[in-house]
Amino acid sequence: MHQLLLFASGKGSNVQAIIDYFSAGEKARVALIVCNNPAAGVLDIAKKHNIPTLLTDRVGFRDPEFVSKLASYNPSLLVLAGFLWKVPEGIVQAFAGKIINIHPALLPKYGGKGMYGAHVHDAVIAAGDKESGITIHFVNEHYDEGAVIVQATCALMPNDDALSLAAKVHQLEHYFFPRTIEFLLDQLQAQ
Ligand code: GRF
Repeated sequence: MHQLLLFASGKGSNVQAIIDYFSAGEKARVALIVCNNPAAGVLDIAKKHNIPTLLTDRVGFRDPEFVSKLASYNPSLLVLAGFLWKVPEGIVQAFAGKIINIHPALLPKYGGKGMYGAHVHDAVIAAGDKESGITIHFVNEHYDEGAVIVQATCALMPNDDALSLAAKVHQLEHYFFPRTIEFLLDQLQAQ
């Protein structure tokens, strides 16, 4: 049974989609949810599903002790599901090739520090793009610059605003993120 460590800062709709997707089978389980925001909605999701949570702050997140705490779960993947901090080098090195992130746009466009949530959708609309979408990628020590695993697109209509675009992007996220995780776990299994 693969152990997944999820990292989230917000509502946690992607965390919920991942919990739901793996809840029926025996392939993987969410062993821990790491969060940096005591008011995050994702903590309510963790409670509802009796999933342990680990609240961290900027100091704790960089502590070498934190790496060993994560390693103690023997995780197959570390999954950033709406986590707003850059992952410190110590964690990236310790779990090289095992950390993935989802970004609500078609990287390399609209990525980098500060590009999250409505900021991303506003930029895509302001640029007059005809499509947007999601990027699921490996995480390295730079924001949103790791190798791309999968991208999925949605059409942008003239009457779309940040809210309607966010809804389309979330739909893609909730479909592709759990399935991409399963694909990666199967790759690990096959090694
Ligand atoms: C998602 O749009 C994801 O692409 C981005 O953060 C958002 C998290 O949303 N990284 P939620 O907390 O999963 O609802």
